[in-house]
Amino acid sequence: MITLGIESSCDETSCGILENSDRILSNIVLTQEIHSQFGGVVPEIASREHNKFIYGILEKALNEAGCKMEDVDLIGVTTGPGLIGALMVGIAFAKGLGLAYNKPVVAVNHIEGHILANFIEHDVKLPTLVMMVSGGHTELIFMKNIGKYHVLGRTIDDAAGEAFDKVARILGLGYPGGPEIEKLASEGDENYLKLPIAIKKEPDFSFSGIKTAVMYHFKGLSKEMQEKHRADVAASIQKAVADNLLYKIEMAIKKNMPKSLIISGGVAANKYIRKRFEEFCRERGILFFAPPLTLCTDNGIMVAKAAFENFKRKTETYNLNPVPNLKLIEV
Ligand code: KG4
Ligand code: ZN
Repeated sequence: MITLGIESSCDETSCGILENSDRILSNIVLTQEIHSQFGGVVPEIASREHNKFIYGILEKALNEAGCKMEDVDLIGVTTGPGLIGALMVGIAFAKGLGLAYNKPVVAVNHIEGHILANFIEHDVKLPTLVMMVSGGHTELIFMKNIGKYHVLGRTIDDAAGEAFDKVARILGLGYPGGPEIEKLASEGDENYLKLPIAIKKEPDFSFSGIKTAVMYHFKGLSKEMQEKHRADVAASIQKAVADNLLYKIEMAIKKNMPKSLIISGGVAANKYIRKRFEEFCRERGILFFAPPLTLCTDNGIMVAKAAFENFKRKTETYNLNPVPNLKLIEV
């Protein structure tokens, strides 16, 4: 069975082609560089860029996979969460393809796509805890099986990726900030700035206080000291994000006794955070899984995977309306 996944919820235009449950035939991702000059994603520009490039991205994906639209059995498209105009482009495109080639088109929840990106290469031991960390979401989820999710905690303000993006801006780095912070942090001292665990007793996360603490500290330094300690600040915020995530994960492990921990979403691409998670799991005797780096940030293959798994279980949904704040269905 061949599944085409279409992703356009934010600033990546992507088509991925998956054979059965785990054979990636192609995964073409176009990251819209145009937003970096604005320091963040401009929704209207994102929609227009998706419109301009989506057809070319599909052609490339089909070429690389060595197949034609006629060979595709199923189309999956992200319907939320995301930017409404951006979502609409992918949905309209998927609907058009479905009509023209007489193929079923199913809706995919972007968060479920990120989670299931882990299940392409790994035989994840269930039940598992999922740490979903992206630019828009920070959610700790207890997952009994594919389709069976329960959210244990989420951010009450900024998402983890958003905190990286905002601190990067304070440090004068480019957008997206996560990869820039990671690069700079490798030269810095992570113990330079002590940052707290936010709302310690709650299962939820909070990152805006940490970001503000970094801002006041950095702005309070002379130009010369700012230059001297830029890498130290980057390393300190990276450590603080990892510490905050792992603190709440520890609480959730004690309560829920999962067999494994997985990390999903754009922040999962951070090698320091992956290493910290790996060590944490090793010390506690549970398995740790992370997606390959190419499947951490937004991509079409994760959408194809979620479409395929839902279709297989007959839990697919055909509600092809964009839903900017779409939630995971919890059981
Ligand atoms: O999952 P994603 O591509 O889009 C959303 O669904 O939000 O995640 C993008 C987020 C951005 O905030 C970006 O700064 C962050 O993931 N990110 C990283 C890294 N690569 C991307 N954060 C830390 N380290 C990275 N290497
Ligand atoms: Zn995403």
